[in-house]
Amino acid sequence: MNNPSFLTRRPRRLRHSAAVRQLVTENSVHVQDLVMPLFVMEGLNKQEVISSMPQIFRLSIDRLLFEIEACMTLGITAFAPFPYLPDDKKDSLASESTKVNGLYLQAIQEIKKRFPELCLFTDVAMDPYSSDGHDGLVKNGKILNDETLPILSNMALAQAQAGADFVAPSDMMDGRVGHIRKTLDAAGYQNVGIMAYTAKYASAFYGPFRDALQSAPKFGDKKTYQMNPANIKEALVEAELDYAEGADFMMVKPALSYLDVIRELTQKYPLPIAAYNVSGEYAMVKAAAERGWIDGERVMQEILLSIKRAGASVIFTYFAKEWAVLQKGL
Ligand code: PBG
Repeated sequence: MNNPSFLTRRPRRLRHSAAVRQLVTENSVHVQDLVMPLFVMEGLNKQEVISSMPQIFRLSIDRLLFEIEACMTLGITAFAPFPYLPDDKKDSLASESTKVNGLYLQAIQEIKKRFPELCLFTDVAMDPYSSDGHDGLVKNGKILNDETLPILSNMALAQAQAGADFVAPSDMMDGRVGHIRKTLDAAGYQNVGIMAYTAKYASAFYGPFRDALQSAPKFGDKKTYQMNPANIKEALVEAELDYAEGADFMMVKPALSYLDVIRELTQKYPLPIAAYNVSGEYAMVKAAAERGWIDGERVMQEILLSIKRAGASVIFTYFAKEWAVLQKGL
């Protein structure tokens, strides 16, 4: 067998030069696929470090506007802000979430006033405002479903009024998408869409985000509303409901341990599928890269590519800005 010509098919022919490799590239990430999550805090000219999320900060609204401008210069056109509130603004009803002069609604208004062309995904869930640290209303140690829905709908409506393009319920209560859709339609906000966190798993990968917002549950965990990491059929039930209730996008979260779920929803539903490359996924890369154990930039690129390859067309990622900087060769 020293004549190797018995190999009629040699996949390496399509890898032999950069030019060929580029020609046969099947998937790629574009800056317009990325959504940059942001953390907004009270005050003026404030920037706070989040120790478990290097290069990501809590910013006061004035600083946030500068950050958004910098991202837009890099080609990022979509953003997902989250509010960081001091404990004295939190209560069991998440009352702060619908105060027109409250931090979050102010931030939404100012962002849209300054940059009307960008696409804003706003967060609908009680946890950033809740003294219980849960996404729903708590009574006797239980997370109530139906009693939470009007709170979520009022929050979504207030965000739509402030200028949200898409409200994004991240709470995993049953029926929230339909409830929010009806509320928005009845108030004349037919054109404000819904990004449903369709398959949001009860994940340990959210740790750094809860540091960022100081929003960890005060008791128990989120397993009675977020999904069991062992399940994929359940994601199809969630997807069917969100689709029927009028979701415009469906999200899978986290991304990396759930690429199979992204693939499944992409194949089964005619809606754009988003993936949330969450805080713990970001932190792991940063921590290993800081130690010199991995090449952080290449790992970032490979991760985002894998999410695209699985079928997501939109990626929420803390890497958005860094990826865009690298892409531009800056
Ligand atoms: C809660 C919410 C969470 C995230 C977004 N919205 C965490 C949680 O469910 O406790 C996590 C995002 C991330 O980890 O980057 N409504």
